[in-house]
Amino acid sequence: DAAEKGGYEHYMRKEIHEQPESLRQTIAGRLDVDAGDADLDTSFPPGFLADLEEIQIVACGTSNYAGRYAAQLFEDLSGVRATVETASEYEFGAGRSADRTLVVAVTQSGETADTLGAIRRANAAGARTFAVTNTLGSTVTREVDDTAFIRAGPEIGVAATKTFASQVATLAMLAVAIGRERGALAAADARPVLEGLRDLPGAVQQVLDNEDAVREAATEYGDSEAFFFVGRQLGVPVALEGALKLKEISYDHAEGFAAGELKHGPLALVTPETPVLAVLTEGGRADETMNNVTEAQTRGAPAIGCVSAGDKYATLDVSLPVPDVGVVEPLVANVYLQLFAYHVANDKGRSIDKPRNLAKSVTVE
Ligand code: AGP
Repeated sequence: DAAEKGGYEHYMRKEIHEQPESLRQTIAGRLDVDAGDADLDTSFPPGFLADLEEIQIVACGTSNYAGRYAAQLFEDLSGVRATVETASEYEFGAGRSADRTLVVAVTQSGETADTLGAIRRANAAGARTFAVTNTLGSTVTREVDDTAFIRAGPEIGVAATKTFASQVATLAMLAVAIGRERGALAAADARPVLEGLRDLPGAVQQVLDNEDAVREAATEYGDSEAFFFVGRQLGVPVALEGALKLKEISYDHAEGFAAGELKHGPLALVTPETPVLAVLTEGGRADETMNNVTEAQTRGAPAIGCVSAGDKYATLDVSLPVPDVGVVEPLVANVYLQLFAYHVANDKGRSIDKPRNLAKSVTVE
């Protein structure tokens, strides 16, 4: 067991630290920065992408948040309306148009019953279906028209970590590929995105090398009453994911939401006992988010920010620097939030790799 964990006390921390390597595998051979294109070896029928009107993403939990990140990229880069549905709701919903629609299931395991139910419904409606998964030979791969593998390697910890990063990176490449093929994205506009993806493993390594800073923050604030995670735009799914990770393994109350929503209700809960963790990077409207963080600080909340290199918000209680990688910066910030959740839970002696009441793969509806 100790050997399998490679010297780490928990699979979760091992898998967090594997991210530079797993991301290298995810992007290997798939980026052409010079040409401004990405290649996931997909096989859409001729004319399908040109006529495409909507991408519907179906997924659960962390994979749903990867989908929410991707939906913004599909709209920005592919020029297609993109929606994200909770798979368990899509499955029983009133039904959505299948015409000119691509339904994308995002599922690490490829075995999640709710996501399979959603894909079966989409297939029955006549939509074209696509899976983004980590697992060769999984059930979802047999039920969809096309699959892209995220190549993150096995993930043992119940908390999804490296697979979230690889899902977002894979979906970002898909967004570029679709945008380029539809003629909606110029090579010059694709290039900065591809450069960010290329530089992602190194950027994540820099965050891992700064683990002590986030470990200290976890020790200082870990005994708080509740934790709020906020961001805007691409920072929203990361805020939601940061809160899910913390509640899943520490059993603490954590909530994530769009920073602009703080003043519409959650601010009533803010006290000196509720730290606010914020995504303050490119792709996340950092200045506007910081204004909301300041409102929480005025009510006494400590503030921990993941901040783009060079941007200084001197009033933050803890500032965690994120290297400059463009639209994938919030994804790099997420690594700090993974480490924060890990160290809070570890300080409390929680069962990190197997949290109570949860299973790695949820095969019941
Ligand atoms: C994440 O930490 C959770 N374990 C959970 O939300 C998970 O992402 C969800 O059950 C979906 O799993 P899947 O990606 O295998 O479909």
